[in-house]
Formats: sequence, structure tokens, C-alpha cells
Amino acid sequence: MEQKAFKRPFVHLFYIFFLSHLVFCQLDYRFYDSTCPSLTGIVRYGVWSAIANDTRMAASLVRLHFHDCFVNGCDASILLDDIDSTFVGEKTASVNQNSVRGYEVIDKIKANVEKACPSTVSCTDILTLAAREAANIAGASYWMVPLGRRDGRTANKTAANELPSPFESLDNIIAKFNAKGLDTKDVVVLSGAHTIGFAQCFTFKQRLFNFGGSRKPDPDLEASLLKGLQTVCPDQVDSDTTLVPLDSVTTNRFDNSYYRNLVNSSGLLQSDHVLSTDNRTASMVLSYSRYPYLFLKDFGASMVKMANIGVLMGQDGEIRENCKVVN
Ligand code: HEM
Repeated sequence: MEQKAFKRPFVHLFYIFFLSHLVFCQLDYRFYDSTCPSLTGIVRYGVWSAIANDTRMAASLVRLHFHDCFVNGCDASILLDDIDSTFVGEKTASVNQNSVRGYEVIDKIKANVEKACPSTVSCTDILTLAAREAANIAGASYWMVPLGRRDGRTANKTAANELPSPFESLDNIIAKFNAKGLDTKDVVVLSGAHTIGFAQCFTFKQRLFNFGGSRKPDPDLEASLLKGLQTVCPDQVDSDTTLVPLDSVTTNRFDNSYYRNLVNSSGLLQSDHVLSTDNRTASMVLSYSRYPYLFLKDFGASMVKMANIGVLMGQDGEIRENCKVVN
């Protein structure tokens, strides 16, 4: 009896510790409400001015967030610079180099956030908010972002090179999303980000001249689009890096035109096109092509899911002072 009474306070202490851990280790919509009330305004202004200067930056920031979250979780590892031979970052991974953009936009916003709220807001939360603002400024709905992520101290170049590629099968792409806790619907919905931004010719050129080793174009590619693309991306190496809009109809507008293009055999990347022909995804493509608001609603939900991948919270990771280097 005496022993039981003695044990009880420890049991209570255990529960208090355990529950408080659960409470504090969750992302929270109001995480910076008292510590950095000006955060959203600073991020929005930074993103808005970057886009005012360069319309494509909206797309680039959304992709930057995707490439962060799929490698080591959303921990801002993509923002870390290489340091001589002592630290290898992700910026030089082949999928990122000369392709991913927007690093300096986040660095600039971070500098302004540091002035207002020193050592308080993580780079990965800034990137998550910046992606939301960028999509919204381009025309996407506004979704609520829970905050409290912390920055990683490591990067993983090998994993960055494993990011989904446009030359991969849908099976592989779905498996890569599944490995991050995302499902087939998320593949279809998040690919809808290709309603804005650009791709280099080499990412789809095989569809124009030598589809599957046939020495002929992809028969599924709409004839007039094919002709235009063959002109912009002639079959020679020096056109490899020429940029082409992912959605040639409403290039800078975040809308459901990407899905209407897919239905009309006018998707640019092979990995986009296959979504309209595979029986796991074709019906979703059709419904997003018909119901723009359904797409915009689902896009926000999938972005929140993606922003939750492998996040560091509580005492894990750190709040970097400069997004390019660990403290
Ligand atoms: C499903 C697998 C995916 C594949 C295979 C893929 C592939 C690509 C490729 C090849 C490019 C062009 C890169 C270049 O030419 O330099 C690109 C651009 C882009 N991707 Fe994806 N992507 C995928 C998923 C996503 C996701 C999940 C998002 C965001 C939620 C996204 C957002 C973007 C954006 C916005 C651009 C344009 C970026 C710019 O213009 O700077 N992509 N993607």
C-alpha cells in the first residue's frame, strides 16, 4: 500500500512529461504568433517583390519546397551551401544544379525575418510559407500552414539525386511518393504544380524525336504542340537547356489548365502525360480538368501533407541564423 502511494507521483510525472512532449512536438498554426507576429507579412512581401521582378519565381519557390521536403524531410537541407571538402550540400545534385532556383529569395527573406525576430524562425518554415505565398500570388487558394519545423544540420546529395525524374515509370514515381507517406492522389494533385513554370528541352526531348527508341515522336503528343516543340527544341545538344512553359496555355497562372492540357494530349513531360493514360490516375485528371475548384482545394491539402514530411520539432535540429550554413 505504502509502496503504491510512493509510486503514484512518479506515474503522474511520467504522464505530464509524456503528454507535454506530445503537445509541444506538434506543428501549430499559431507557433510564432507571440514570438514573431510579423512573420507572414515579411514572407509575403519578400515573395511578392521577387515575383514582381521575375514572374517565374512563383514556380521556382514551389519546386524548391518540394525538393527540400523529399530529401531528409522538410528541413531546409536544400538551402545549405557546400563548404570546401568538409560539407556536401544538395545544391550540386544533378536534379538541382542549373535547375532549382529561388535560394537567394529565401536568404533575403530570412535576413529580414532575423532583423524582426532574431534566432526564432526556421529556414524551413520560411520556405514552407514562401511556397504557399508564391502559389497563392500565382492564383492558387490560400491554405493554412502549421508551423514549428526546425532546420536540419545535415544534407544528403545522394538522396537528392533520387528525386522523381520525368523519365521514370509511374510505378516508380508512385513508390517514391508512398515512401514519403504520400499516395497516388498526391502524385496527381501535386503534379498540378506544373501549371506554372518552365522545363528545359532535355527533360522531354526524347518525346519529340526518338520516343522509346522508335526514332519517331511520341504518337500521343498533340500534332501542333509537337511541331512547335520541335522548332523550339531542335534535335541538337545546344537546345538542351532552352526553356519551355510546362503549361503553354496559361503559363504563369495557377489554375487547372495543366489537367485540361493532359486530357488534350498536350502535357509536356512524359511523367505528366502518363497521368492521363494510366487507369490509376486518369479519372482524377479528368475530374480536375472539369472542376477547377476541386483541384485548388485538393492542392492545398496535398501541400500541407508534403510540408509534414519528416519534420524536426522540439529539441531536434536547430534554428539556423543563415539558411546557407548550419550554426
Ligand atoms: C511527380 C514527379 C515530378 C517530376 C518527375 C517532376 C519533374 C520536373 C521537371 C523535369 C521539371 C523541369 C526542370 C528543369 O527543366 O530544370 C519540373 C519543374 C517544376 N516542377 Fe516538377 N516534377 C514532379 C513533381 C513536382 C511537384 C510535387 C511539385 C510541387 C508541388 C513540382 C513543381 C514544379 C514546378 C513549379 C516546376 C517549374 C519550376 C521553375 O520554373 O522554376 N513538381 N518538374
